Amino acid sequence: MTMRSLLSDHRHYVESFRLFLENSTEHQCMLEFIQKKLPGIISSIGNGKSTINVLSVGGGAGEIDLQILTKLQVKYPGVLIHNDVIEPSAEQIIDYKERVAKTSNLENIKFTWHKETSLEYESRTKASKEMKKWSFIHMIQMLYYVKDIPATIKFFHRLLEPGAKLLIILVSGSSGWARFWKKFGPRLPLNDLCLYVSSANIKEILDEAGLKYQSHDLPSDMDITDCFTEGNKNGELLLDFLTETCHFSKTAPLDLKNEILEDLKKPEYSEKRSGKYLFNNNLSAIVIEA
Ligand SMILES: C[S@@+](CC[C@H](N)C(=O)[O-])C[C@H]1O[C@@H](n2cnc3c(N)ncnc32)[C@H](O)[C@@H]1O
Repeated sequence: MTMRSLLSDHRHYVESFRLFLENSTEHQCMLEFIQKKLPGIISSIGNGKSTINVLSVGGGAGEIDLQILTKLQVKYPGVLIHNDVIEPSAEQIIDYKERVAKTSNLENIKFTWHKETSLEYESRTKASKEMKKWSFIHMIQMLYYVKDIPATIKFFHRLLEPGAKLLIILVSGSSGWARFWKKFGPRLPLNDLCLYVSSANIKEILDEAGLKYQSHDLPSDMDITDCFTEGNKNGELLLDFLTETCHFSKTAPLDLKNEILEDLKKPEYSEKRSGKYLFNNNLSAIVIEA
């Protein structure tokens, strides 16, 4: 059997992503950021407006989106919020809609879902010549799946109203991910659906484009202890997520597998705490001005 990309099997990908969320502080660290930093970031985007337009690019199942919207409601009580979501996965949209249906206090928010990729949205809006402007746009953990990142950032940046902001969250350039991709990326079955990008690459792109931004560090980790128990099902699934490979344990060459398992225990990638191995999942939140 040869190694193939995790993204070639959408169900397997979603299953491993769910397990990753359970085993990591990925969403907790975002919630902390939303709690502590977002109020300041959005403090002027809605000034004097009767409607706030929010665009979520790759909103997934909406967990984080709803937290962001709650903060907007608190800051701008009674103001109507239009929340549009660009999301190519039908399953994710179904989950998002279910979440909205069972959440209370969303009365003044109007949701619209677009089942498409960011590029499809770009082509569609350009063709319609109706370039809707937005008060807040966010791209959370999704730029890995975009082919032309500089063009995508520039396109969405042009859709910001004066005073609006664009938020990007990605793994940090100093995370275990960035190091792992640098070392093992060339030996893993990356397809052109996924790119190994970190916040360091995004900052280069923003500097090049002359865009103004601030960056915030979001410390986070992922418990990978199970990966070191041969035959552990969760461990195997987490390893699939880490390597972006379908059934890595069964399909990887033995030398690669051994090298990765040895490396993952090293301090460059993980911290050992109370007998657990915690992989460095640090994220960066980059806030770009209009
Ligand atoms: C890792 S998930 C993150 C979801 C959510 N933002 C979060 O942080 O929990 C990435 C999401 O981006 C979506 N996605 C993948 N390619 C995309 C593209 N080209 N344009 C927009 N969204 C995309 C996926 O379907 C998935 O829901």
